[in-house]
Amino acid sequence: MERTLVLLKPDCVERRLIGRILGRFEDKGLNIIAMKLIRITPDLAKQHYAEHVSKPFYPGLESFITAAPVVALVLEGLEAISVVRGILGATSGLKAEAGTIRGDFSSSRQMNLVHASDGPEAAKREIELYFQPEEVLDYKPTLTPWMR
Ligand code: PPS
Repeated sequence: MERTLVLLKPDCVERRLIGRILGRFEDKGLNIIAMKLIRITPDLAKQHYAEHVSKPFYPGLESFITAAPVVALVLEGLEAISVVRGILGATSGLKAEAGTIRGDFSSSRQMNLVHASDGPEAAKREIELYFQPEEVLDYKPTLTPWMR
């Protein structure tokens, strides 16, 4: 089983898409093991996007990600990191395939609705950035063995 950090970004919250996006992860059989509504501060944004801080697009990215609340969650499932990235589609909504979240709902590279960890090291770092250990619940579905 793998865990991945997902953020439903300010555009997702402001467009009232939280329920529909969460539904796509639930439909796939992923397990929500932590979730909260938070406001990302500039300091947290710099930690989250540490590898992008020096890039020209970073100031705009920080303004965007701190502009309104986000939903932070941890999803767990078999190969969850790549499965979730597949459900999201390519980074730019203009390039993402129809049927993916970004392909269906976004026409922007910055306002692409959802962030998800891009590998096991990023997932561990990002989960620890957003959640205390006791906020991540260790439980297994007992009624839906077909989804394990
Ligand atoms: S990815 O999906 O992580 O591999 O994409 P990457 O290209 O590495 O981009 C990382 C995040 O930076 C955002 N981004 C941009 N925002 C605004 N303008 C430009 N040009 C731009 N390029 C990249 C992009 O939305 C990614 O955000 P996250 O939260 O990781 O999806």
